[in-house]
Amino acid sequence: MKDLGLSSIGEKKIYWAEREMPVLRMIMERFSKEKPFKNIRIGACLHITKETAVLVKTLREGGAEVYLCASNPLSTQDEVAAALVKDGFNVFGWRGMDQKEYYECIGHVLASRPNITIDDGADLVTSIHKIKYNIPSREITYVKNIISGLREELLENVIGGSEETTTGVYRLRSLSREGKLLYPVIAVNDALSKSLFDNPIGTGQSALDGIIRATNTLIAGKEVVIVGFGRVGSGIAYRARGLGARVTIVEVDPINALKAVMDGFNVESMSTASKHGDIFITATGNINVIRREHFNLMKDGVLLANAGHFDVEISKKDLEELSIRVERVTDCITTYVLKNGRRINLLADGRLVNLACAEGHPSAVMDMSFSLQALSAEYIVRNRGKLPKEVINVPREIDLAVASLKLKSMGVELEELTDEQKKYLESWHLGT
Ligand code: NAD
Ligand code: ADE
Repeated sequence: MKDLGLSSIGEKKIYWAEREMPVLRMIMERFSKEKPFKNIRIGACLHITKETAVLVKTLREGGAEVYLCASNPLSTQDEVAAALVKDGFNVFGWRGMDQKEYYECIGHVLASRPNITIDDGADLVTSIHKIKYNIPSREITYVKNIISGLREELLENVIGGSEETTTGVYRLRSLSREGKLLYPVIAVNDALSKSLFDNPIGTGQSALDGIIRATNTLIAGKEVVIVGFGRVGSGIAYRARGLGARVTIVEVDPINALKAVMDGFNVESMSTASKHGDIFITATGNINVIRREHFNLMKDGVLLANAGHFDVEISKKDLEELSIRVERVTDCITTYVLKNGRRINLLADGRLVNLACAEGHPSAVMDMSFSLQALSAEYIVRNRGKLPKEVINVPREIDLAVASLKLKSMGVELEELTDEQKKYLESWHLGT
């Protein structure tokens, strides 16, 4: 953690977030009576934000001992980490960590021998698996140096885990396809009360917030190119259009591309869009979607930002190789001066722009995502030993409960089916 002196600022921010997270507060209240996590250690690898602080407080209220490390080297809000440490939490992370420090922090969380892992991007769960399967890598050496002799005990204690984001779920499904997943993991990302709100609405707003905070650029009238029109990319596209941008979509999936066309967006290949875009935002979860041949076509002064989980979507290697000079403009802007004289501005070193240059999703959206996390952790404990070693969906009743509680907290009324309607919907007798 960077500086304990920041804790009072962090405390106020956590309090601010808590006010916007009524569903999680209700769960916290119940947990504090029922203590579902008595004798449970939870290891979490999440963005260390004020919203994550409310989640870990909820888990502790339920009786858990919580160990938290950063899930991205640039996303930690240092004042929040300080407040959590002052409050007695075990927190490992600060903004601006290098690769070695990042994996050492994962090592510290694993050294606590967690019973439950909570991941955002699957670095915690894949570290456990790489250690177990003896898959060598520099990162794993850093983890092993911290956990020293703990290899076998690591898994003895784990009863299950959960995953927050799309890329993490991809990685888990890959482990599962290879028959290597060693414990049940709940795909919180795929719950409807997460992926219909957090991915499009949360990232839609916070990615643009990050770009605006970093550059103060005017979005209106700009040619904004969104690469990937999935859950995240579509949310960014609608909001960029709402701010007055002319939006172009780049997609590989015919259905999503057609959806973008029918929603009135311009859809093009990456090469065509590269020639006219002013701002490029990647949201694919894929590698090198903007690369050498695209940089060579771009106009002078373009902005590049990434909203996907890892910093692999925009090829930094290609940018460096094409450049005669690299200038650090601010904490969030790096300018690459290409051999052709044009300047390309990369935000947040290609890492998640919403968390590195702004504060991540608003608390009101994280309320649902983290309520699902809290209830999924409770589900894992209550079903200890009964869940398959697979990627598991959030049970439907938990998903519906979170949506219902959110509506209730907003004072929104739900219509109820009459008995006649229920019967009608279940019957095939009545027709034309
Ligand atoms: P998704 O699967 O719904 O969408 C990804 C889209 O990208 C798909 O439509 C896919 O066809 C498209 N795509 C893949 N490769 C492409 C390429 N080369 N060119 C153009 N399009 C391509 O996934 P999602 O839920 O939208 O998540 C996208 C990424 O955002 C993931 O890495 C996820 O983890 C991350 N994410 C980030 C945040 C955040 O806070 N920044 C929040 C949620 C998710
Ligand atoms: N992911 C996106 N926004 C976030 C936030 N505010 N806190 C934790 N994780 C996030």
